[in-house]
Amino acid sequence: MTRSGLTMEIEIRAASTSDRERVVSFLREQGYPHTIDEEDRHFMAERERQVIAAVRLSRAEPALVLRGMRVRKDCQRRGIGRRLLALVAREIGSERCYCLPYSWLVSFYGEAGFRQIAAAEAPSFLATRHAKYVASGQDVIIMRRP
Ligand SMILES: CC(C)(COP(=O)(O)OP(=O)(O)OC[C@H]1O[C@@H](n2cnc3c(N)ncnc32)[C@H](O)[C@@H]1OP(=O)(O)O)[C@@H](O)C(=O)NCCC(=O)NCCS
Repeated sequence: MTRSGLTMEIEIRAASTSDRERVVSFLREQGYPHTIDEEDRHFMAERERQVIAAVRLSRAEPALVLRGMRVRKDCQRRGIGRRLLALVAREIGSERCYCLPYSWLVSFYGEAGFRQIAAAEAPSFLATRHAKYVASGQDVIIMRRP
């Protein structure tokens, strides 16, 4: 299927309460290992009633944290993640938001206004989480918006 053919058929939107179970199932199917809080907001891409991408927005005072960004493997590199992230960025507005992405995705998150920061600039709970991921062998960085 062509890139434009696929993206035309998909709907990208904030998940409603009734979507929550499907979004959580999707993230689990994608191997997402972390606890998903009841209070999280989710955003999703859907095609023919199937979730094909999702992301969480968690509130962790003093800021928001973007987590669990996943696009289904057969739908990757077709602009869906970019569109989903652009929607989330509009929803976040000017509120401060962090994420801990893989280092090779710095330009992907950069397009949505996230900038890499040093661990010393992050809230301590995030610096601790980042250190834990790095210690487990994950090549992750800390990014912040705005
Ligand atoms: C990473 C991910 C969310 C990106 O979503 P996507 O729909 O595949 O990406 P898009 O097609 O919107 O990509 C937009 C741009 O971001 C960048 N990008 C996307 N995936 C990338 C990757 N794996 N490596 C480097 N750059 C990447 C590219 O610049 C890309 O533009 P291009 O395709 O014209 O080169 C998705 O591929 C995914 O779920 N991957 C597996 C899980 C994962 O890594 N999640 C992120 C955790 S931090």
